[in-house]
Amino acid sequence: MAAKGYLVAVIGAGPAGLYAARALAQKGARVVVFNRDIKPGGLAEYGIYHDKHKMKEGLRKQFQRILEMPGVTYLGNIAVGQQGDLTLDDLRDLGFQAILVTTGAQGTKSLGLPGEDLEGVYHAKEIVYHYNLLPPFSQQTFAIGRRVGIIGVGNVMADIATYLVKELKVDEVYAIARRGPFEVKFDKKEFKRFARNLDVEDFEKEIERIAERLRKVGQDPEEAKAHILSMAEGAPETGSPTVFRFRFLSSPKRILGDEHGRVKALELEDTELVLENGRTKAKKLGTTYTLDVDTVIFSIGDRVDPNFGLPLEWNAYATNPNPRFPVDGVSYEAYDPEKGEPIEGIFVAGWARQPSTGLVGTARKDGENAADALWQYLKTLEPADIDVDAVVAQIRAKVSKPLVTQEDLKRLAEAEKAEAEKRGVPYFKFDSNEAMLQVMGLLPVSTGD
Ligand SMILES: Cc1cc2nc3c(=O)[nH]c(=O)nc-3n(C[C@H](O)[C@H](O)[C@H](O)COP(=O)(O)OP(=O)(O)OC[C@H]3O[C@@H](n4cnc5c(N)ncnc54)[C@H](O)[C@@H]3O)c2cc1C
Ligand SMILES: NC(=O)c1ccc[n+]([C@@H]2O[C@H](COP(=O)([O-])OP(=O)(O)OC[C@H]3O[C@@H](n4cnc5c(N)ncnc54)[C@H](OP(=O)(O)O)[C@@H]3O)[C@@H](O)[C@H]2O)c1
Repeated sequence: MAAKGYLVAVIGAGPAGLYAARALAQKGARVVVFNRDIKPGGLAEYGIYHDKHKMKEGLRKQFQRILEMPGVTYLGNIAVGQQGDLTLDDLRDLGFQAILVTTGAQGTKSLGLPGEDLEGVYHAKEIVYHYNLLPPFSQQTFAIGRRVGIIGVGNVMADIATYLVKELKVDEVYAIARRGPFEVKFDKKEFKRFARNLDVEDFEKEIERIAERLRKVGQDPEEAKAHILSMAEGAPETGSPTVFRFRFLSSPKRILGDEHGRVKALELEDTELVLENGRTKAKKLGTTYTLDVDTVIFSIGDRVDPNFGLPLEWNAYATNPNPRFPVDGVSYEAYDPEKGEPIEGIFVAGWARQPSTGLVGTARKDGENAADALWQYLKTLEPADIDVDAVVAQIRAKVSKPLVTQEDLKRLAEAEKAEAEKRGVPYFKFDSNEAMLQVMGLLPVSTGD
């Protein structure tokens, strides 16, 4: 039934999109959340390490409550964008008065190094999505060998290292930092998960190797050593023989392959630290050395999907430098730098606005602030006659695939709970879209005939 109001599309059901949807619904907007994945949660479901059951379950419950709000409608298994099931123009034609893009950082940051296309080179996100069972990554095979080099030393590196040490139990893991021990970005808590496997003798040699370069910028090598070792204090046994090592002041230069097109080594270029505005930067020195690894995983952050249909600025969607509706001085308005104009009615938030930045709480705050900005914009428009059921019916007619609603998700959650109980595990996840759609009754169960 039609009612006067504002109709908003939120694209992406990660933390930014879901908390924005809640804020908008609380203000009185009618919100439809479109999500590429069947399940909501984004990286809270498919990024956060899979054994953090309590944290993930807490977030799932919050997300479920948001999707049950009367002003919120969920449509999963539907991608929006230039190459998606619906375009931004389709949404405008369907009567959405404003669109909030919270699609996260789905693109890949590539350094363009020789050898990046060799077998055994991966990007952290692919591996993270794989072990968190996001289709189609859940069903792909990743040829991870025995000696793995991870580029980058943030918390994503720590998650990948945890997986390699505790689950795959590979022989050696190298975490490669272009800066030094004081500039690692991982947290103590995340490092502790595998720090017991740190090769302390090698670590001491590594500090010796870079000592002169640390001293050059006033860093004390002994303090640098203590800094890392204190983070490892009290780390529990892992039961894994993997050896974990750091290589500092090293920037990846080239990946070398064998005659089968598989990674056989990683060439690293030495760097030194230079101070710029009180911050250290890595400066390449021209000298190189080689590390024998058979797998390279880039864990250097991500960028937004460049094919979505919004202009980019660096790794993010461009935002209006002179926002009409700023919140805390931040612009949430999509922008066309070529035309020098904002894109009317389109807002961005979360990792779509600032890729690979911050925790769930950061994305939540960003989504809520974007909801404020978007609401200010809506108030400049006349309320329209809104019939969400009719809009959803039009979408179903246009999109030739099963769409997943909040009611369907409840059936999926029940089926997964029952399966977990049957298997005696804390949590069970179906790892293919087909299996999920089948248990929700949205796809016939194939008989194999
Ligand atoms: C490996 C890893 C581990 C992490 N661990 C933690 C942790 O332990 N604790 C913590 O607090 N934070 C953690 N974070 C950070 C946290 O997950 C992010 O801050 C947060 O999820 C970002 O939220 P978002 O909504 O902006 O994007 P995302 O969570 O990425 O959500 C994006 C959503 O958009 C959807 N989408 C994408 N493209 C489209 C499209 N074209 N059409 C429709 N929908 C689309 C996706 O399906 C997804 O649901 C982790 C991040 C990573 C990468
Ligand atoms: N458990 C958790 O709480 C958890 C888990 C995972 C992720 N997260 C959060 O998610 C966000 C993203 O994490 P992240 O690890 O992807 O990013 P991050 O913390 O920014 O770390 C990225 C790493 O990649 C390096 N890097 C970037 N570009 C590089 C290049 N061109 N060459 C070499 N190295 C390069 C960075 O080095 P420089 O410092 O020199 O730039 C840094 O060491 C963070 O906010 C993180 O805290 C949290």
